[in-house]
Amino acid sequence: MLIRHADDLTENDVTPQDVYLRRREFLALGAAGIGLGLAGEAAAIPLKGNVSPFSTTEPKTSKEDVTGYNNFYEFGVDKDDPARNAGSLKTSPWTIKIDGECARPGTVDLASFLRGNTLQDRVYRHRCVEGWSMVIPWLGVPLADLLKRYQPTSKAKYVAFETLYRPSEMPGQKRRVLDWPYREGLRIDEAMNPLTLMAVGLYGETLKNQNGAPMRLVVPWKYGFKSIKSIVRISFTETQPRTAWNLSAPQEYGFYSNVNPQVDHPRWSQASERRIGEFRRRPTLMFNGYGEQVASLYRGMDLKKFF
Ligand code: MTE
Repeated sequence: MLIRHADDLTENDVTPQDVYLRRREFLALGAAGIGLGLAGEAAAIPLKGNVSPFSTTEPKTSKEDVTGYNNFYEFGVDKDDPARNAGSLKTSPWTIKIDGECARPGTVDLASFLRGNTLQDRVYRHRCVEGWSMVIPWLGVPLADLLKRYQPTSKAKYVAFETLYRPSEMPGQKRRVLDWPYREGLRIDEAMNPLTLMAVGLYGETLKNQNGAPMRLVVPWKYGFKSIKSIVRISFTETQPRTAWNLSAPQEYGFYSNVNPQVDHPRWSQASERRIGEFRRRPTLMFNGYGEQVASLYRGMDLKKFF
């Protein structure tokens, strides 16, 4: 991955005018080589990188769809609600607390995260449990690179994630659509798998709020709801964490939630999907096409029971 340092950038590289006007802020963060929004819903700042070998070469879903057709129930339940309402979320300052079964609990903020890590550009398939899919160019860091620094102990069997709870800025939290805050979890080997990404950007820019700014998980072989947005806490746990959708409808949403065309949702088939921007349905692939990387994690498990 190539991080463009501030010194390498010309004004032509920084095309949107609002970004150009924020150039001083951007240069102030030159030590990281990366510009960050400094207050509220910051203007997107360019991030650049080379495509990783994990990337698919399939055509990408348009940026308009990736940033305009979202699930983020903290901002409403309709697909266009997040883009419309998420501007109220202040993403700076922002810290993630890391605690639980680890030798070095601590906190991480976005700026130090970006200074200490090399970003990768990963074009991943993204399959929502509702039957639609996208192809999204994310920018992020393998989650394992972050987690290892906190030295999980031998008791750390799982990793639990929590989204911010702030109803004043997340109007959807005023209604009990889910048991807030949104929570997710992975088994530690899933969390440490090289495909699992902590994303901070997409389409070459910092994440927009509707996509989970400033940091969200991306687990491409699982249904999209595992990819929790706007994370404020990561805990290493000995027991399997509770997750928002499993708490809300356990018969419909299991802990594993691997993309699996052979296990139907109780109310619809999971055998096919519609890629946003296309009309035809295409067959859904086991593990969303990432079986080579992840099938071994589930060897010997009955994936109909552990759906
Ligand atoms: N994270 C939080 N905090 N709240 C949510 O409602 N929705 C999930 C997931 N992460 C959700 C969330 C679902 S159902 C999907 S499909 C993906 O986010 C959607 O990600 P995208 O909008 O970036 O495509």
